[in-house]
Amino acid sequence: MAKNDRVHFGSKLGVILASAGSAVGLGNIWRFPYETGNHGGAAFILIYLVCVLILGIPIMISEFLIGRRSRANTAGAYQKLAPGTHWRWVGRMGVLVGFLILGYYSVVAGWTLEFIGESATNSFAGKSAADFIASFNGFVGHPWRPVAWLIVFLMATHFIIVKGVEKGIEKSAKIMMPLLFILLIILAVCSISLPGANAGIEFLLKPDFSKVDGNVFLGAMGQAFFSLSLGMGCLCTYASYFRSDTNLPRTAFNVATIDTLVAILAGFIIFPAAFAVGIQPDAGPSLLFITLPNVFQQAFGNLPWLAVVLSLMFYLLLAVAALTSTISLHEVVTAYLHEEFKLSRSKAATLVTAGCIFLGTLCSLSLGIGKECTIFGMTLFDLFDFITAKLMMPIGGFFIAIFTGWYLDKKIVWEEISNNGTLKVSVYRLLIFILRYIAPIGIALIFINELGFLK
Ligand code: PHE
Repeated sequence: MAKNDRVHFGSKLGVILASAGSAVGLGNIWRFPYETGNHGGAAFILIYLVCVLILGIPIMISEFLIGRRSRANTAGAYQKLAPGTHWRWVGRMGVLVGFLILGYYSVVAGWTLEFIGESATNSFAGKSAADFIASFNGFVGHPWRPVAWLIVFLMATHFIIVKGVEKGIEKSAKIMMPLLFILLIILAVCSISLPGANAGIEFLLKPDFSKVDGNVFLGAMGQAFFSLSLGMGCLCTYASYFRSDTNLPRTAFNVATIDTLVAILAGFIIFPAAFAVGIQPDAGPSLLFITLPNVFQQAFGNLPWLAVVLSLMFYLLLAVAALTSTISLHEVVTAYLHEEFKLSRSKAATLVTAGCIFLGTLCSLSLGIGKECTIFGMTLFDLFDFITAKLMMPIGGFFIAIFTGWYLDKKIVWEEISNNGTLKVSVYRLLIFILRYIAPIGIALIFINELGFLK
């Protein structure tokens, strides 16, 4: 596609909301709480916040500037900015990561559809915590129900991707984000006021550093990359549709702030409720899906209609939040196939959707009938999550920091960050310092520490 043929996001708000739509999703509301639960609570959250600040925001600005400068898909972007070098492999790796994440992410996205159905038919009514655990496990282990839902979800994603960037992505994000935010606040208030919720609040706010080990650092870094959609070219691809007057540093800061607020709010919904009804905080990927129905039950047991309305709204919004993220994942791979292999957009999208249905089906089955087949002690679902969030995304981020900090001509970096000198960017030098030294060394140390060399 010629440079000026490429579509753009229509408005400033649209740019922020579309990027925030990519960032905010199951990563915040489903993955953040269970990683926090697995890693002991408040101390994990603190390390997570540091990761967002010193790795997340600078790397996000880098991805933005790479994408907008090149106006190409993520692999094409490195080709344009560093022709004939191996940098294009950073982009290609990102495309692969996008494909793998979309495979297992759509499994969980499909679960949200099942729960929309359950809310609508009021099937949470009268159930105890043990019932919720049993029915969730029964559903996830079912041979075809979760697979059917993930196919529905991927088809919806496919449809929006084929319709194109501005109409599909921007519109859905504009309506969904504010609604989701309001609902999360309501639910957090309900959860905090449940009897016995205090232990959950303490778990979120009182750090216990004695439990912090290499694994906690790796978990926090992985969560930051996953939640901010970083290190795999997603925001780079979106930035290729940004307007030339978009303020990149400010957009990155806004997106990271929105994303973090949503994650923290989700924590304040899940943990007070989990402690209130006696569900272990380290229940893993099922945490959200067994705690929340309990909140609706306990908080609104005597107002059943309100329980139905709120839970229906919650799962609908969760599904839309997941959808704005699956769209961004799909777009990375589709834009790559479309621009690099000259396939039509719809052909490229069809290939991606078909491939993801295949991967997603395998991941979904690996939680049910295929539970016994593990690789390195993990199900395929967990393996994909581990490889992408905890390995490939931070590795991608490492190279992106080196690319902008060391390789790319500083004139280009400055032009993009300051919009050709029209913006005053007081943190420019700090940013370059972080990209050159702090981010790459920080990521490397976390890996080395996890491998045990520092012990
Ligand atoms: N950030 C998304 C979420 O939190 C997931 C995602 C990862 C989306 C990578 C795009 C790219 O749910």
